[in-house]
Amino acid sequence: MLSGAPPTDRAKHEPDHMRYAYRQCRMRSGNSWWSLRSRRETLALRPGRMPSSGVVQKKTRLDTSRIRAAREAIDPVFLDTPLYRCEALEPGLGCTVSIKLETANPVRSFKGRGTEVVASLLADGGPRAVVCASAGNLGQALAWSGRGRGLDVTVVASRFATAAKLDRIRALGARLELVDGDHELARERAAAIARYDGVRLVEDSLDIETCEGAATIGLELVDAVSSFDAVLIALGGGALATGVGHVLKDRAPGVEVICVQPLGAPAMTHSWRQRRVVTTELTDTIADGVAGRCPIPAVLDDLLLVADDAVLVQEASIVAGMRMLLDHAGLVVEPSAALGIAAILEDRDRFADRHVVTIVCGSNVDVDDYRRWVGAAPLPRL
Ligand SMILES: Cc1ncc(COP(=O)(O)O)c(C=O)c1O
Repeated sequence: MLSGAPPTDRAKHEPDHMRYAYRQCRMRSGNSWWSLRSRRETLALRPGRMPSSGVVQKKTRLDTSRIRAAREAIDPVFLDTPLYRCEALEPGLGCTVSIKLETANPVRSFKGRGTEVVASLLADGGPRAVVCASAGNLGQALAWSGRGRGLDVTVVASRFATAAKLDRIRALGARLELVDGDHELARERAAAIARYDGVRLVEDSLDIETCEGAATIGLELVDAVSSFDAVLIALGGGALATGVGHVLKDRAPGVEVICVQPLGAPAMTHSWRQRRVVTTELTDTIADGVAGRCPIPAVLDDLLLVADDAVLVQEASIVAGMRMLLDHAGLVVEPSAALGIAAILEDRDRFADRHVVTIVCGSNVDVDDYRRWVGAAPLPRL
């Protein structure tokens, strides 16, 4: 199948035992998306709210057997992505490094895994219209997954979002509404559209399908788990980290799960460290994919159960990481995808002689910005 090609036959007709398996799992665990809708209402964003009255839940909202079933709902173009040791990076980083590559697919990020699960459920008798807020990658992925199933997709994004991402959302046939503010304003607007127009709101990281779709990366990692010690995960709203973290804690608890955020967008990391939702007034980072200000309480609850650490990195390290991935791995990545390398660069001693996996989670960049960033990056010392 050609990437970017519309609807695979499988996605179009997708009937089958596959979607059915995920749906059955959802019903068994009493976690149908309908019940999630009412859950969402009760979990509506309330900045500063304590998660679960300070009581740590014993289990995340995720379920490993459902995650396994989710694989069946996801177009294979997003699955079984390369995982390989990248020796050329190792002299500069002082540890053994493997890359889990999530950029070689039609939307150039891991977000297609979650939107495939969402869209397959909707195609199976749910609402035909759907809206989401996005910094760009979720919207692009939902546009792709929705197009293949004849869904009516609206994406709300900041006017200041990465132009290349917005262009792709339009090109994939979604309606794009821009707001004069940041991602949090886009979230408010998407929720309002869902309320007034009665369409399904997809809330990244809160909707369990987005987490369980991302969690399929974790399943792919555990098959190789005997060979690594830690996994570095870009942290935004938390779907990726809670998803992969859930599977690793369930199936490979010895692997250290480390989340990475930019110093310029630290809300979820501060929240994880303080075990309560901490919001910020602003973000200031080139890593647009992870630049949220208002963590979702239920996602924080999950993250508290599965993350061993959450670290913050400087912008210069993110750019150095992008440059290293270009020079030594031949990969053009967006800033969020370089967070793992940035974390190693900032704390070589911590990772020395260990085997670390970093998830290279997106490559949607404006080419001029990319050239400017990596062109100005000093060559990392080897
Ligand atoms: C490239 C990239 N990396 C990381 C993230 C963060 O993922 P999450 O919001 O699931 O934490 C995103 C979110 O859109 C992204 O697009």
